[in-house]
Parts: sequence; structure tokens; C-alpha cells
Amino acid sequence: MFRIAGLSKSLLRGPLAVGRANIMVPKYAGFAQSALRFHGHVHKPKPGEELHVTFILKDGSQRQYEVSAGDTLLDIAQANNLEMEGACGGSCACSTCHVIVDPDYYDALEEPDDDENDMLDLAYGLTETSRLGCQIKMSKDIDGIRVALPAMTRNVSNTDFD
Ligand code: FES
Repeated sequence: MFRIAGLSKSLLRGPLAVGRANIMVPKYAGFAQSALRFHGHVHKPKPGEELHVTFILKDGSQRQYEVSAGDTLLDIAQANNLEMEGACGGSCACSTCHVIVDPDYYDALEEPDDDENDMLDLAYGLTETSRLGCQIKMSKDIDGIRVALPAMTRNVSNTDFD
């Protein structure tokens, strides 16, 4: 349940008299919080169906995870608090989930579509094996994939279109 310190529930449902002024306080709907392990929308892999992904971080260290088929690299990274912003929430409208795929795995990925290519054109430090993490779903074909997080990412702003 959502609470604002110092305000009772009744104050959140109507006008709040402060001095001579009436201030309208919006009615807040309750919301639920999910456990941290569910952030990033990843699924726990079933026994025997674990897939593997390794992220190479900006400092060169590596993190390996057992994941489920269908999870995206963005979701996996965010569920594990890696530095992948994912500003557009995975809707292929930014380039902040840019990853550099190990060439050994790049050809096993499905071809990027036009929307992904458009966003990749705006990615900082684009390489021959760059992809967007939100567009890569784990599957048996890419079990063991290794991706590096680029040194920087760039978010699109309206000045980019001047
Ligand atoms: S999160 Fe924005 S394009 Fe992937």
C-alpha cells in the first residue's frame, strides 16, 4: 500500500485545507510492488532447460547467468542490475540497450529489422556486430552467447534531428 509520510488516508481523497487555500490532493490508487527478483521480467529457467549468457562489463569483468528461452538481453541485464538503461522500455525506440555481440554468435541471431537498424545507426560506438539488447531473445540457437556492454550509450534527443 502506498503511503505518504505524515498524511492520513482521508487527506488523500479530497480537498486539503491549508490556511485559507484549498489544495486539491489527487486520489492515489494503490499499487503493488513485485519482488526484486521479478524486475526485468525474466523467468526462472526450468531444470534442464537453462540457457547461458555472458555479459562483459565496461571494466572488462564478466557476469554469466542461467536464463530462460524468450528472455531478452535487456530484461536479463536489468534483472541483474547491469548497466543497461533501456530508456524506451524495449520498444526499439532508443539505443541505450546497445550491445556488442561476440562474432562467434552474431550469425546465429535473427537479422535485425528496419526499426532496429534505424536505432543502431544512432548508437554510440557502433560495430559490425552491434545489436540492441531488447531485440535479442534467448533461444537454444544462441545458448552461451557473449555480449559486451559498450563504453558509452547515447540517448536520442530532439537536437539529433536538427
Ligand atoms: S531499450 Fe530502447 S531500443 Fe532497446
